[in-house]
Amino acid sequence: MASGFFRRAGIASVCRALQDGIVKGRCCLSRQQRRRRVTRAIHLMSRRFAGSTASLSKCDVCDDSPGARDAVSTVSKKLYKNSRTYDLFMKWLGYESRIDRFLRRLNTSGGPHERILDAGCGTGLLGLHFLERFPAARLQATDLEPNFLHAMLVNAARRGIDRERIAVAQADISRPKQLTTLEGAPLALEDASFDLICIGAVIGYASDIEASLCHLLQLLAPGGTLINIEMSESVTGRFVSRRYQYHNIPLARMRDLIRDQGCQVVSTALGIRHFPANLTRTAIIARKAGG
Ligand SMILES: C[S@@+](CC[C@H](N)C(=O)[O-])C[C@H]1O[C@@H](n2cnc3c(N)ncnc32)[C@H](O)[C@@H]1O
Repeated sequence: MASGFFRRAGIASVCRALQDGIVKGRCCLSRQQRRRRVTRAIHLMSRRFAGSTASLSKCDVCDDSPGARDAVSTVSKKLYKNSRTYDLFMKWLGYESRIDRFLRRLNTSGGPHERILDAGCGTGLLGLHFLERFPAARLQATDLEPNFLHAMLVNAARRGIDRERIAVAQADISRPKQLTTLEGAPLALEDASFDLICIGAVIGYASDIEASLCHLLQLLAPGGTLINIEMSESVTGRFVSRRYQYHNIPLARMRDLIRDQGCQVVSTALGIRHFPANLTRTAIIARKAGG
């Protein structure tokens, strides 16, 4: 079904590379060959979807902070236009199941985990996992693109998650506290109002990554947890980031920044069991003091 969709979408070369890398790869290719072929598939996919860059609004919060880049986010509008294709790729490449596998083994003892924020939620990979895991939890999901918010809700319905447990709103990760509901009403998030904040491959789209991280940590309640399934510094991680116009911040710098905000940090690389997600993602887990 998925390959038919891709063929109709004119991405036959991606299809072939994926089939070579994943389907045939299971039986007759070495791990290295498989890795190369999936990397090539990701490359083809990103070439197919990478479009012209479009400026997004300037970050008024970050512009006030010292050392802020006088920059604007330059994420291509085309890049995240099609949530359906993104969703299919995440599922088909095995990203979704492998990240889910990684999260299942993650120690989230402590808690409570009742108020969850998934900022830059995409199709809901992270937030929906935690909603299923913590039955009393409620999720605030945000994304720059409304089509991803809709896709996340569709995925939630598919997974049998009660719609009442999810609030969705548009937000730029540069200003994670400032939301706009789908009806167009402004909404401000209060500091210390979340027990668990999850982000994944989104903070690099902020016009000032450090300020954005700082604001996200302010939203975290004492004793709360930040889970960042970040783009890794591996060759493939940096390669995909570049294709997706994602600005990697050195992970050591990110860890220092989080510590400066009074959090304990643990970073964990994804292992071979999480292939192919381990090619491009890594995890940074932070616990805020107090609580
Ligand atoms: C690579 S996807 C990651 C989705 C999800 N967090 C995950 O881990 O799979 C990036 C997501 O960030 C969103 N995004 C891009 N620029 C953004 C911005 N400036 N603010 C908020 N979200 C943004 C895109 O619409 C897309 O849903």
